[in-house]
Amino acid sequence: MYTMPIIGLHPQCGVALENIMSVTQLRASGASLPPPRVTADLLLQKKLAGHPITALTAYDYPTARLVDEAGIDMVLVGDSLGMVVLGYENTLPVTMDEMLHHTRAVARALCRAFLVADMPYGSYHGSAREATHNAIRFVKDAGAQAVKIEGGRVRAELVKRLTDAEVPVVAHIGLTPQSVHSMGGYRVQGKSIDAMDRLSADAQALEDAGAIAIVLEGIPRELAARITAQSGVPTIGIGAGPDCDGQILVFHDLFNLTFSPSAKFSRQYADGAAFFSTALQHYRDDVAAHKFPSDAESYHLSREVQSALAATHTRARKA
Ligand code: KIV
Repeated sequence: MYTMPIIGLHPQCGVALENIMSVTQLRASGASLPPPRVTADLLLQKKLAGHPITALTAYDYPTARLVDEAGIDMVLVGDSLGMVVLGYENTLPVTMDEMLHHTRAVARALCRAFLVADMPYGSYHGSAREATHNAIRFVKDAGAQAVKIEGGRVRAELVKRLTDAEVPVVAHIGLTPQSVHSMGGYRVQGKSIDAMDRLSADAQALEDAGAIAIVLEGIPRELAARITAQSGVPTIGIGAGPDCDGQILVFHDLFNLTFSPSAKFSRQYADGAAFFSTALQHYRDDVAAHKFPSDAESYHLSREVQSALAATHTRARKA
């Protein structure tokens, strides 16, 4: 039977390696038991129990740790990394090395959440052998629990191959950003009866091939509801309405950190840009006005060394 895990701050967090430098506090090893790790099976149990799956992207240690500690079930190191962190125009230039680098950082931060890594454009479009090699790197070298690939039934064979190689796969259909050029822009997909049928068949083919979950992006609510009802694996929606088994958003959209107007489907939960800007202006003003650092924020010589120094100066003046 599925029971909701208790979420809270991780008790084993917070042992400093070094108490005077600005280093991130790492978790103590073995201080107490970590919370149980979310698995593909737990995600399925949530679908079956009707408990919404929570998912969010993350790309680095501090934000991944906050996401994990907030009790989010699934963390995706999305190739949206390219746009929201690396400043590319779209996701297409993102490389394997960039994805692996950020996946490793996120993996070090997570105690509980299920970690999915996006396979970047070009890393699974060549031979099946190369795609399998790249997918295994995410699990073996970077600590991911699953990889995500974009595309419908054309990916079914690859999903089966990766599944056979013990790499769980999250599929991604609908508006697939790596197809931006072939879609002619970022457009809502599945709006006609034919397109709805094609996407429903895609979802079925991917499930049959072994996908553990399916991301539904940028499709009408009605289609997402139909696929979700028909699917034996969890659907995770982004711009696909409230009837999916779970929801995912891009971290930077939640916090107004994208420097662009937000899409209709995304919701801003805090104004991170305003928060950081205000703090940065205060810091700049304090330094410019000699108000930072204060004496209390400075290190001092001991009284003995200060006296010895004063005596040396006095002797030097007299000589
Ligand atoms: O790259 C990404 O962030 C994604 C999510 C939007 C699903 O693929």
